[in-house]
Amino acid sequence: MCGIVGYIGNRKAAPILIKGLKKLEYRGYDSAGICTLNDKEVIIKKDIGKIEEIDKKISLTNLEGNIGISHCRWATHGAVTKENAHPHTDCSGKILIVHNGIIENYSELKSELEKKGHKFKSETDTEIIAHLVEENYKGNLKEAVLKALKRLEGSYALGIIHSEHDELIAARNESPLIIGMGDGENFISSDVPAILGDTKKVVYLDNKEIAVLTKDNVELFDLDGKKKDKKVEEIEWNAEQAQKGGFEHFMLKEIFEQPQVISETINGRLEDSDVLINDEIKLSEKEIKEIKRIIIVACGTSWHAGLVGEFMIEELAKIPVEVEYASEFRYRDPIVDKNTVVIAISQSGETADTLAALREAKKKGAKIISIVNVKGSSIDRESDSTIYTRAGPEIGVASTKAFTSQLVVLYLITVYFGKVKGVLPAEQVRNRVRDLRKLPLQMQSVLEENDYIKLHAKQFYKKTNALYLGRGINYPIALEGALKLKEVSYIHAEGYPAAEMKHGPIALIDKEMPVVVIATKDNITYKKVLSNIQEVKSRGGVVIAIESKGDEEVKKIVDHNLYVPENSYILTPLLAVIPLQLFAYYVAVMRGCDVDRPRNLAKAVCVE
Ligand code: F6R
Repeated sequence: MCGIVGYIGNRKAAPILIKGLKKLEYRGYDSAGICTLNDKEVIIKKDIGKIEEIDKKISLTNLEGNIGISHCRWATHGAVTKENAHPHTDCSGKILIVHNGIIENYSELKSELEKKGHKFKSETDTEIIAHLVEENYKGNLKEAVLKALKRLEGSYALGIIHSEHDELIAARNESPLIIGMGDGENFISSDVPAILGDTKKVVYLDNKEIAVLTKDNVELFDLDGKKKDKKVEEIEWNAEQAQKGGFEHFMLKEIFEQPQVISETINGRLEDSDVLINDEIKLSEKEIKEIKRIIIVACGTSWHAGLVGEFMIEELAKIPVEVEYASEFRYRDPIVDKNTVVIAISQSGETADTLAALREAKKKGAKIISIVNVKGSSIDRESDSTIYTRAGPEIGVASTKAFTSQLVVLYLITVYFGKVKGVLPAEQVRNRVRDLRKLPLQMQSVLEENDYIKLHAKQFYKKTNALYLGRGINYPIALEGALKLKEVSYIHAEGYPAAEMKHGPIALIDKEMPVVVIATKDNITYKKVLSNIQEVKSRGGVVIAIESKGDEEVKKIVDHNLYVPENSYILTPLLAVIPLQLFAYYVAVMRGCDVDRPRNLAKAVCVE
C-alpha cells in the first residue's frame, strides 16, 4: 500500500526522502512523488512507475531544500496517472500534502469546496484535504490542519507542509505513521525500514493524533489541540536486516533466514519440559482452563498459518478452533463471548481486515492474543497480549519467514495451553519441546537442497497451471505453496485437499498439469495420500512430491522427489513449506518476474 516519508533538518531532504521511499517499495505502489521547500520555493516532482525509473526520467534526488515530503501511491481513488500521484496541493500551491488511506466523505467535501471556488486538479480523495486546510488557514498551519481533520471521515496518515512554515505536520487515523527522532533532524514514515539507517528512536502515532515537527523538536496533540506526552521507543531491528545481504532478492534472503529466525522465535521461550510464554500471553491459568473456543482471524498467508494452528491446538491442547478470513468475520455477527479467545495473526500488524475483526471480537468480550511481527503496529497495540514472531523485517512481498515463525508461535501457544489444561503431561511437553529444538538444523538441511529445487523449477517454469495437494495438517501447506507460486510467478495454481480432488479438479489432470503433492510420512494421512497420487498418475498427471527423507514408497510412484527430514506430524509443515517457497521463487525468477514486488500486490493491506 502507499508509503510516506517526510524529513525536516539540516541535511538536503530529497536524497533522504528517496532513499526512504525505496525502502518502502515492498509495500506495493504504482506511482511516486516528492516535494521539497527551498527557501519558500515549492519544488514538486511526480510520475507513474517505479521510483528508480522516475528518478532517471525527472531526477528526484537532486532537489534543493531541507524540508520535504514524499510518497509512493497504490491507487484507490482515481486512475494511475501523474496528476493523481502525490504530493497534492491547494489552489495557492503553498500547501503540500501526502496521504495514505481513504477519505470516505470526500465527494461531499469536494462539492462543498467547489462551491466555495476551489479548483481540483486530480481525481483523488487526498486533494480535498489540501483544499480543506487552505479553507481553514489563517496563518497558523497546525490550527488549520486540526480544523480540516475534524471534517474528515475515513482513514489517513498524512504528511503536510506549507511553503511559509518551517515545520512538518503529521497526522494519523487508522493508517500507520511513525515519527523518527534524530539529532537536529526529524522524520515521518509509514514504516520502520524507511528510517532505520537514520534513527532508532521512534514515536508511534495513535489514531486521531497529530505531530508538529521542526528540526529540533516534536510536539504531539490530540484533535482538540491538547498537548500529549508519549514514550519514545527504541527500534530493535538494525539497518542490515533490511538489506539484501548478498542475495539477489529479499524473498530468497528471507527464505534462507528461516533457521536463524526460528532460533530467535524460540530463544528464551523454552525450557526442557516447559514453554515460557505466560508473561507474554497475560492469561491466568484459570482463564486458560476456562477457554471454551478459539477463533483465529487472519488474511492470506497468515490465514494459512491459522489453518495449521487449528490442527495443532485441537490435537494437542484439545480446544475447539475455528479459523476465519478476517475480512468475512465481522460481516456475519459472529458468536463470541468472554470464554472465547481470538488469536489475530498478522505479519505487518496493520492489515485492515484483521484489525477490524479484532475490534469486533473485542467489542463482544473476547480476549485477544495477537501473533505479530511488527512491534508497535496497530494490531499489536490493540490486543490484550502479543506474542512477537521476531522474524525481523520482512521486505519481500511474498511472506516466507513470517509464516514459519507464526507457526512456531502457534506451536508454543498450543503446548503451553495443553500443559496448563493438563492434557499434555510433562513427558509429552518434553518431547514436543525437543521436536521444536530440532527445527532450525532440519530447515538448514532443506535449504541445502536449493540447487536441486532450482533444477526442478527449470523443468516447470513454462507451465501455465499447477495443482497443489495435501491432507490434514499439510492441506494448508498445499494452499500456501499454490499462493506462493501464483503471487510471484503469475502461474495459475490451486491448493486442494488431496481427497477432494476426485470431486471436481481431477478433470483438469493431464500430462500438462504439474501436481505438487505433500506426501510426508505420518500415521494419519500418508497411505491415503499415496492413493491420491495414484489417482493423478493413472490420468497422466506429472507429480512432484514433497516426501520424507529415505521414503522409498513415494519415490517409486512419482516423477519428481523433493525431500524433507522427518519431524513430528505437527511440525512437518514448517519443513514441507520450504521447498515450495524455493520452487515458487525460482519459477518466478526464470519467468523474469519482479519477485520482491509482484504486480498489484501490497505488503501491508491497510484498506478494507
Ligand atoms: C502472501 C502474503 C499475504 C499476507 C496477507 C496478510 O505472501 O504475504 O497474503 O499474508 O496480506 O498480511 P499480514 O500477515 O501482514 O496481516
